[in-house]
Amino acid sequence: MSLLKRILNQCKKPSGRFGRFLAKGMNLGHSGLTKWGLGFIDIASDIDVLDIGCGGGRTVERLAGIATDGKVIGIDYSSDAVVVARKKNRMLINEGRVEILQEAVSSMRFSDGVFGLATAFESHYFWPDFRNDLKEVHRVTKENGQLLIVGAAYKNKKYDRRNQRIVDAIGMTYLSIEEFREVLEGVGYSEFDALEETNKGWFAVKCKK
Ligand SMILES: C[S@@+](CC[C@H](N)C(=O)[O-])C[C@H]1O[C@@H](n2cnc3c(N)ncnc32)[C@H](O)[C@@H]1O
Repeated sequence: MSLLKRILNQCKKPSGRFGRFLAKGMNLGHSGLTKWGLGFIDIASDIDVLDIGCGGGRTVERLAGIATDGKVIGIDYSSDAVVVARKKNRMLINEGRVEILQEAVSSMRFSDGVFGLATAFESHYFWPDFRNDLKEVHRVTKENGQLLIVGAAYKNKKYDRRNQRIVDAIGMTYLSIEEFREVLEGVGYSEFDALEETNKGWFAVKCKK
């Protein structure tokens, strides 16, 4: 297996010592992208937030710093990511403001209409069935609740060559902004909007239930 594929597999599901190391590294490496993406939405202080594919948990911590009167739940299907994210958020967990759960996006334990905001940073690529998994995210979101998806790989002329190497190595959900709109509206979301950071190849899409 090529080194690129090995690293990408670890991004898809961090595992073992290297996976935990990578989850910590992503806390640092994704910091700029996360900050940029979060600037695209208004987050009320009393909102309950679900962060899907929370990795090392830095975004959960950041969200808890914004939604100061709400609760933030981070989920990840990797037990090693959960260990790192719990450590990162230990104080907030003890205060009852954060929970980190080992959970896959495709079938979540939550009741219908629980969260005011669902976020996914660099995670949607790896969901096993993007359209159906979005239906599950839609189910657990409140009426008028928001969804924010942020990433550094989407179909666009400037970065297609760079991204295609990654897509070919791992096989992942790789969409244009227009394709995001189609899928999200097809699942039942409205008020779609998108932001692009063309110098870096970043995208953020948001919509409402
Ligand atoms: C590239 S990492 C991004 C982590 C973090 N959001 C960040 O920005 O640093 C992708 C994360 O999504 C998680 N993930 C991938 N597919 C998932 C799924 N189906 N359900 C839950 N988590 C998933 C992986 O385990 C991994 O921790």
